[in-house]
Amino acid sequence: MPVETIDRLAHELEAEAKTLSADIDRFFAQLLAPPGDSRALFYEAMRHAAIGGGKRLRPLLTMAASRLFAIDRERALRVGCAIEAIHVYSLIHDDLPCMDDAELRRGKATVHKAFGEAAAVLAGDSLHALAFEILAHRATHDDPWVRSDLVLELARAAGPNGMAGGQMMDLAAEGQELDLASITRLQQLKTGALIEYSVEAACIMNKTPPDARTPYRGYARNIGLAFQIADDLIDHSGDEAAAGKPTGRDANAGKATFVSLLGEERARQQADYLVNQAIEHLSGHGREADLLRAIARFAIERDH
Ligand code: IPE
Ligand code: IPE
Ligand code: MG
Ligand code: MG
Ligand code: MG
Repeated sequence: MPVETIDRLAHELEAEAKTLSADIDRFFAQLLAPPGDSRALFYEAMRHAAIGGGKRLRPLLTMAASRLFAIDRERALRVGCAIEAIHVYSLIHDDLPCMDDAELRRGKATVHKAFGEAAAVLAGDSLHALAFEILAHRATHDDPWVRSDLVLELARAAGPNGMAGGQMMDLAAEGQELDLASITRLQQLKTGALIEYSVEAACIMNKTPPDARTPYRGYARNIGLAFQIADDLIDHSGDEAAAGKPTGRDANAGKATFVSLLGEERARQQADYLVNQAIEHLSGHGREADLLRAIARFAIERDH
């Protein structure tokens, strides 16, 4: 890709990410307005986790994929916020003492550190429920079949055959020697499923026939894996302040990751290869796919 194109894509991505982050913050600020009763502090816990942080990669993917099909921005934003709600819930629970026992997330104290474990568990539960409430709401799409499909596929991506199942495999893999196929499967569930859904959701809203979804699924699958390799590289050799979360934990916990199996150099090459493959899947599109191409690069060229 010529340097001018890369520069232009980087600018476009930066602008979109900025606008979108502000939109997401506004959405959650409204959704999570603290009530005047004993739940006020609990709402603060959810706001602490959901507002003002994170790369917002998953909603960015939904917005970028929605652009291919000229889907209404407000609707795409609602779907993106539902996915982000699931993601934030998964981070709150991932940081709990019974899981990764982390004290820092997005540069702030983790929810259980700031608000206690019970509030953290319930904040996760509530964000999980809110995600489905957002999708099922009429404002998300006029067609009830589309809404039902959005709900169905998110449930699949988040459940035992998706993120939660992958988290369980990740914990079970501590101290185990996994081969490349097993790590790929684990990561595909743990991180890939929700990332794949972020793109699939745009196809659902567009009512794209299943056999026409192949390139988008290929793109999302490659991005999901590349993104998790980048996350593992950050844990392996990244800077804690830049990452906004503890690093060096995977090796300490004896976690099987792409980096522990392939080594840093080959893991980077693999991530690069996956990103190029992802971009290749978009070859049938012109400039309307530029944001997806830019996200592909960003998925691995990052320090946080
Ligand atoms: C971190 O996700 C956990 C993984 C699934 C790799 P992100 O790297 O997207 O975290 P935020 O949203 O930017 O904080
Ligand atoms: C967590 O993976 C993925 C989730 C589904 C939350 P990690 O445990 O590697 O995520 P970080 O590194 O803490 O963000
Ligand atoms: Mg974890
Ligand atoms: Mg973790
Ligand atoms: Mg990690």
